[in-house]
Amino acid sequence: MLKKVKLSPDGFERTVWSVNGQHPGPIIQANKGDRIVVNVTNNFGDHATIHWHGMFQNGTNWYDGVPGQTQCPIPNHVSLIYDFSTADQHGTYWYHSHFFAQYLDGLRGSLIVHDPDDPYLKDYDFEYVVSLSEWHHNTTGAILPLFEAPGYAGLRPIPDSPLISGRGRYNCTAAPPGSKCKSDPPLAVYNVKKNKKYRFRIINSAGDAVFVFSIDQHKLKVIETEGVYVKPTIIEKLPINVGQRYSVIVEANQPIGNYWIRGTLDKRCTPNNNATINSNSAIDWNGLGILHYEGAKHEPKSKESNETFTPCRDLDQKHLQPIHPVTKFDGHLTDFINATITFAPDDDNILRALINGSSFVPQMNDPTLNKITRQFPPQNLPKEQNSLIFNNKNGIVEIELWNNNPATHPFHMHGHLFGVMFVGEQGQKPDRSKYNTKNPIVRDTISLPGNGVLVVRFISDNPGIWAFHCHIEWHVELGMVMEFVELPNILKKKVIPNDVVSLCIESDFQKNKRS
Ligand code: C2O
Ligand code: CU
Repeated sequence: MLKKVKLSPDGFERTVWSVNGQHPGPIIQANKGDRIVVNVTNNFGDHATIHWHGMFQNGTNWYDGVPGQTQCPIPNHVSLIYDFSTADQHGTYWYHSHFFAQYLDGLRGSLIVHDPDDPYLKDYDFEYVVSLSEWHHNTTGAILPLFEAPGYAGLRPIPDSPLISGRGRYNCTAAPPGSKCKSDPPLAVYNVKKNKKYRFRIINSAGDAVFVFSIDQHKLKVIETEGVYVKPTIIEKLPINVGQRYSVIVEANQPIGNYWIRGTLDKRCTPNNNATINSNSAIDWNGLGILHYEGAKHEPKSKESNETFTPCRDLDQKHLQPIHPVTKFDGHLTDFINATITFAPDDDNILRALINGSSFVPQMNDPTLNKITRQFPPQNLPKEQNSLIFNNKNGIVEIELWNNNPATHPFHMHGHLFGVMFVGEQGQKPDRSKYNTKNPIVRDTISLPGNGVLVVRFISDNPGIWAFHCHIEWHVELGMVMEFVELPNILKKKVIPNDVVSLCIESDFQKNKRS
């Protein structure tokens, strides 16, 4: 049940778009091969959708949850049952609203798919989920009009707190008069026993922020990236961009005590110190949680590791090597896309993000999927839908994405894992003869460096309409989204379930105001 409730995740009370009254929403757990059935009743007083970030939705494109692409948004007081198979997927995922910036107001949660054949199963005794997100005291309904005002230069809003698993601490003396704020609310606590081993599944479910995760005096053994088992490597600090997930194994091998868990917002990647939205924020960029050893008494006094790395870049590729090849991307390319990201104001002087000159505008009342199943010729899709059409079954698609601006963009692909061929800094050029096509790094969300270039490949084996977009929510709003129209000839033979189609009749989204 989606409903608005008052919560104080960081001590400051605000209205939260909750799932079953909670933020983050309940953790959904399944086993590999299970069917996941979620009955979503929308009581927000606003439209909503839910996207299952990382799930392939093979054969169930209409449950991917992207308004304007795979469904009409669910109106208030209407239910939709999402029903999809995990098939052979396993690993760490999450779910969130894909309707405007709604998940930043609370509609998000973790989705874990356990694997009975997990090669690391014997290497840990217990597991935990850690979600990292930034938190705004204003609703996105209040922030977006400022962000999309004529003449605004696109500096991203500064959050008020980082949250670790939904908890943070705000300095209440900075809260505006009349607001409810309680100092020192409880932090997230993870209980461990000396000499046991723990798998931490870490999810960046923020809307903008790069986090650096660490646990004082404990090492992190990386074993999973977005559902892909990787060769174990040891790190102390984990940089994690929006939408990315990792699993690490932590051994409770330190003296019995309490240790800080850190989820630090990397402000070096948030070039918004001049932002006029939330500019008086009293944010403490250092999010905290507690690793509590059984028997420990006092507050943590532990010290942060000083391991260093390049800011705003993904974890080094040497930590991301799959233990065995996931997919091969070698052989003859069937499709090649060269795209460039720019920003420019539109005719009303409102900033837009453009990919190859067009800016994505979701057609809320007529999703692309519905158009295709009505036998709508894909080449006639409106330019604002930024559609790329892939017709080759099991073809190899290569996307070369150039970034013409200094911001890092975490790009996420729906419906697929992609092979990473090249990540280049400013001035570096991709060279196809050097790509690792046989056993590349494979994931579903990756950082495109500022003024850099990214080359990924995927196999066109999943008929559907799939979004490919920057996961910085503010950039989605500006239109930094493409959609793949994959295998439309197969797709147009599919029948969309009635309850999904009928949303479009009931929705009539334009008449309702966003709150
Ligand atoms: Cu996390 Cu388009 O999604
Ligand atoms: Cu971006």
